Amino acid sequence: MDSNKRPETMERITTPELAQAFIDEQVKLVQEQVKDGKVLLALSGGVDSSVVAALLIKAIGKNLVCVHVNHGFLRKGEPEQVIQVFQKELGANLVYVDAVDRFLDKVAGISDPEQKRHIIGEEFIKVFDEEAAKLEGIHFLAQGTIYPDILESEKGIKAHHNVGGLPEEMEMELVEPVKLLYKDEVRVVGKQLGLPESMVERQPFPGPGLAVRTPGAITRDRLEAVRESDAILREEFAKAGLAGKVWQYFTIVPDFKTTGIKDGERSFAWPAVIRAVNTRDAMSATIEEIPYDLLKKITERITHEVPGINRVLMDLTPKPTGTIEWE
Ligand code: XMP
Repeated sequence: MDSNKRPETMERITTPELAQAFIDEQVKLVQEQVKDGKVLLALSGGVDSSVVAALLIKAIGKNLVCVHVNHGFLRKGEPEQVIQVFQKELGANLVYVDAVDRFLDKVAGISDPEQKRHIIGEEFIKVFDEEAAKLEGIHFLAQGTIYPDILESEKGIKAHHNVGGLPEEMEMELVEPVKLLYKDEVRVVGKQLGLPESMVERQPFPGPGLAVRTPGAITRDRLEAVRESDAILREEFAKAGLAGKVWQYFTIVPDFKTTGIKDGERSFAWPAVIRAVNTRDAMSATIEEIPYDLLKKITERITHEVPGINRVLMDLTPKPTGTIEWE
């Protein structure tokens, strides 16, 4: 039987009971596969890798080595949450790699979007490779591959996101416990494993992270403006009950400045752009209508609380013609 094909008889995991049955089964299977071997996992803090981490901690405890690479383009609070949940609460064997300066140096002065993505992807592999080389006796590599990844790479729609990131020459046996699950099932399993709601219900977030929301050549101050404005947007959407309803929402800080007034003085600063879209499959997207009062409040907060920002704009472009991300 093709182990990458979901059996037609497999029931959709929609309840805690079904999730528990899946967890029990996978814990056994993983234990049989790796025995007392060590398993390496790149833990981004996204839904899929987080669920795999929690599942493997249950199955093999300290024999799972999680590597969390902070490339500097994560959202506010994300690296802290990974450490809190996995190291402090779940007792994971976690290697935290602060590679922020390294990545920022690499992309300094690079304004071409594809080149930027390429550099970040390549550097990520290098950092992960270096960490793996420091560890001895690891024969297994765990990945948060999910079923849509398999279907999409089969159809040639996109390179396998999760696999694509990691070096092939590592020659490790793969451990992919959620590869036959759809995203909604991964979330149900994550909840059953006790992961926090904020982790399990996260909106999609691109691998290169905030780098693609800092169009053009990235500077630290503009990157911080993206991170802070995004944090305010997320906080206000959550307070207004929109967090689970809008598919994806974030800010972009483009590389141009306009004149304004801040604290009674002339300011020459960037705008922050709000993007809030709804979609089923990210192939096309519509614009979410956000209540005007909320937009006013977000504008007030971003312009007053975020250094370097003096205007807030809204991107009203559906996909197509826009893509969801700006780069
Ligand atoms: P676009 O911008 O192509 O985005 O309309 C569609 C969806 O994909 C996400 N995205 C990425 N996800 N790695 C990822 O894992 C990436 O490099 C990447 N680029 C875009 C984007 O956030 C949106 O949800």
